[in-house]
Amino acid sequence: MTITIVGSGKVGAAVALNCGLRELDDILLLDVIDGLPQGEAMDINHQLSELGLDSQIKGSNSYEEMKNSDFIVLVAGMGRKPGMTRMDLLNKNASIVKDVATQISKHANNATLVVVTNPLDPMTYLALKTTKFNKNKVIGMGGMLDLSRFKSYIHDASGCSRASIQAMVISEHGENMLPLIRFSSIGGIPISEFLSKEKTQEIFDKTKKVAAEVIALKGATVYAPGNAVATMIESMIKNKKEVIPVSAYLDGEYGISDLCIGVPVVLGSNGIEKIIELELNEYERKTFDLGVTSVREAINLINQK
Ligand code: 2OP
Repeated sequence: MTITIVGSGKVGAAVALNCGLRELDDILLLDVIDGLPQGEAMDINHQLSELGLDSQIKGSNSYEEMKNSDFIVLVAGMGRKPGMTRMDLLNKNASIVKDVATQISKHANNATLVVVTNPLDPMTYLALKTTKFNKNKVIGMGGMLDLSRFKSYIHDASGCSRASIQAMVISEHGENMLPLIRFSSIGGIPISEFLSKEKTQEIFDKTKKVAAEVIALKGATVYAPGNAVATMIESMIKNKKEVIPVSAYLDGEYGISDLCIGVPVVLGSNGIEKIIELELNEYERKTFDLGVTSVREAINLINQK
C-alpha cells in the first residue's frame, strides 16, 4: 500500500505530514522540481522517527514510481495568490491536471484519487473524465476544508468545545459555497439555540471569505487542507464510513447530472459509498444552483479548449 502525493509544495507536504502522523501508510511525494520532494521526505521522516511512527516517506521526480499506489492525492498546479478567486486558476491548472491525470491512469489504474487542485470542482470533474476511473473513486477535497472553518467560527462564537460541534458545508468550493446552518449543531442541539440570527449570518459570511484572508496574510492555506485530505483518506483506508462533504460526481442526485460539486457523502473502502441527498429550502437551493452554474460554466470553458 502507498499513498502518492503529486505536488510537493506546502500543501502536498502538509498532506504527507498529516497522513504520516496518523500512520495511514507509506507515502510517496512526487514533484517535477528536482530535490523538493526528496527534501520534504527527509524532513518529515525525521519528525516521524522522533515520534516513533512507522509511515515511511519517500521523495521522487518519476511518475512511474506511483505504480501500485492505492491512493493518489493530486495537488499539482498553481496555488491561489492574494486577490485571486479559485476560478482565476482555471486555465493554468486545467492543463496540469489533465497531464497528471493521464499519468495516473497510465501508472496507477486501480487507485482512488483525491483531487485538491483549484478550482476544485471543475478540476475533480476533469480528473474523473481524463482517468475514466469509476465515479466513486475520484473525490474532491473542498467541503471538508470549508467545514473546518465553519466549525472553528461556531466554536469562537459559542465558546462550546470544538469536539461538540457538528456542521455541514456543501456546493461549490468557491464563491458559492453553502454553510448549512440548518444541518449544524452543538451537541446535537440546533445552533439557533446558542447563537442569534445576526451572529449566525456573520459566521456564514466569514466561512465563505476566510481562505482569501489567510492567503492575503501568509500567502497560502496549508495546515487545514493537509488535515482534511488525511481525514478523507483515513475514512477510506479504515473503512470508517465518515459522513464528509466532498466534491462528488452527480448522476441525477440533487436533480443534477454530469458535474462534480460539494455534497455530503459516506466515505469508506469503496470511496464514495453513498451520496446523501438533503432536502434544501428555497434559499439553500438557490445558492446550490448558483454553484452548479458556476462549475458548469468552468467545465464548458475547459471543454472548448
Ligand atoms: C482553500 O480554501 C485555497 O481552496 C483553498 O484554502
